Amino acid sequence: MKENKLLEQAKEYAVKYLLELPEKRVFPDEAALKELEKLSVPLPGSSTDPEKVLEVLNTIGSRNTVASNGGRYFGFVFGGTLPVTLAANWLASAWDQNAVFKLSSPIAAQTEKIAGKWLLDLLKLPADSAVGFVTGTTMANFCGVLAARQLIYERLGWNSKAHGINGAPPIRIIVGEEVHASMLRALILAGFGLENLVKVPTDDQGRIIAAKMPELDASTLVCLQAGNVNTGAIDPIKEICQLAREKRAWVHIDGAFGLWAAVSPMKSHLIEGCGLADSWAIDLHKWLNVPYDSGLVICKDPKALQNALAVSAAYLPDSVEPDPYFYTPEMSRRARGVETWAAIYSLGQKGVIELIERCCGYAELFASDLKKAGFRVLNDVVLNQVLVSFGDAALTNRIIKKIQEDGTCWCGGTIWKGTTAMRISVSSWMTTKKDIQRSAASIIKIANEEIAAKK
Ligand SMILES: Cc1ncc(COP(=O)(O)O)c(C=O)c1O
Repeated sequence: MKENKLLEQAKEYAVKYLLELPEKRVFPDEAALKELEKLSVPLPGSSTDPEKVLEVLNTIGSRNTVASNGGRYFGFVFGGTLPVTLAANWLASAWDQNAVFKLSSPIAAQTEKIAGKWLLDLLKLPADSAVGFVTGTTMANFCGVLAARQLIYERLGWNSKAHGINGAPPIRIIVGEEVHASMLRALILAGFGLENLVKVPTDDQGRIIAAKMPELDASTLVCLQAGNVNTGAIDPIKEICQLAREKRAWVHIDGAFGLWAAVSPMKSHLIEGCGLADSWAIDLHKWLNVPYDSGLVICKDPKALQNALAVSAAYLPDSVEPDPYFYTPEMSRRARGVETWAAIYSLGQKGVIELIERCCGYAELFASDLKKAGFRVLNDVVLNQVLVSFGDAALTNRIIKKIQEDGTCWCGGTIWKGTTAMRISVSSWMTTKKDIQRSAASIIKIANEEIAAKK
């Protein structure tokens, strides 16, 4: 069968790519990037042999990837892909399931249900919470905000489903000064203007200063952060949640990567009281290392999330128990739960803890190597994030550019409290101690060369 041959070929290309990954340049070189132009052909008028299509994709495409699923990519906060999750993803792609409801895919619904329960257990969140499998934390933040908005309006006697948000009673939104852009995007999508946000001052690590929290009430949504994208620092969740509970304010936690601290006996003290919040957002494609795109919205009151997103139509199934689309903004979508189920089934609780703690340990090792070489680490390395300055802004930016061009590893830049810095995020299951040492040695060499050239 021709289809089999095509899939065998795709497997061969993919396996070759993965075998070369540990030694691959992290970012494509100029010669490879030029090859991309070859894809710019006029709209094909007639058909092309599928084998040829695949061959072109492999020849040009495989050279033009960023090896972010390898061991030496430390940009943004990206995870890799555990082999079992990639294999599960291949199988699920062959199934081509629509995960909208149980009726369209019993296996998608069941893996989401089981993986959702396991995740609540791992993260030590209330067992009866609703769990929605979404594209990532941005969408999860959006869903958390929608659930909060729905419930707060309901308390204020406003039916937003019927009347929309024009003319609705005001909802106060409180965020930290270091709120992530994704949380802001979620608030904008939900119709809350940026100028209406109350911003609370943060400390030198980017954590909200609890003593500076404004008065809370039942019309308030507090957006906290577990894992500052630069420092990894986590807001004082317990203290703020306790304040919020007294006043019946809703607390949403953007925990894209920092919520994973809850699984680790070594790190869970950083996120104490997390279960007291009302909704949470977390990425699976970051620290759980499942393929893109994958995140979770979790909501303590399932009805609040369901009411915010619910629709009905005569042709839709009469669901006896919650169907996956009750808790997501999409209807048709892919079966994300399959890979998450596979990751957790394969790693077990011990394996998940080990993955998180290993990355944190490597971040400490990275920081210590850079400090020993005389460079300034700007943050307390509490999780998997390291911020390093090589001197003034121009020098630091030049060194970051050289590191990226060199291809041994990849790190991005940022400005932290006015200081230009390089960000290092250790989030891939594939990263080894050797990768850290090799990357640190390359960074130190490049930085010293640039510093010497400046003199
Ligand atoms: C704290 C925080 N929130 C949200 C996001 C965005 O997540 P996603 O890209 O999965 O939407 C990130 C990404 O790094 C993050 O660090």
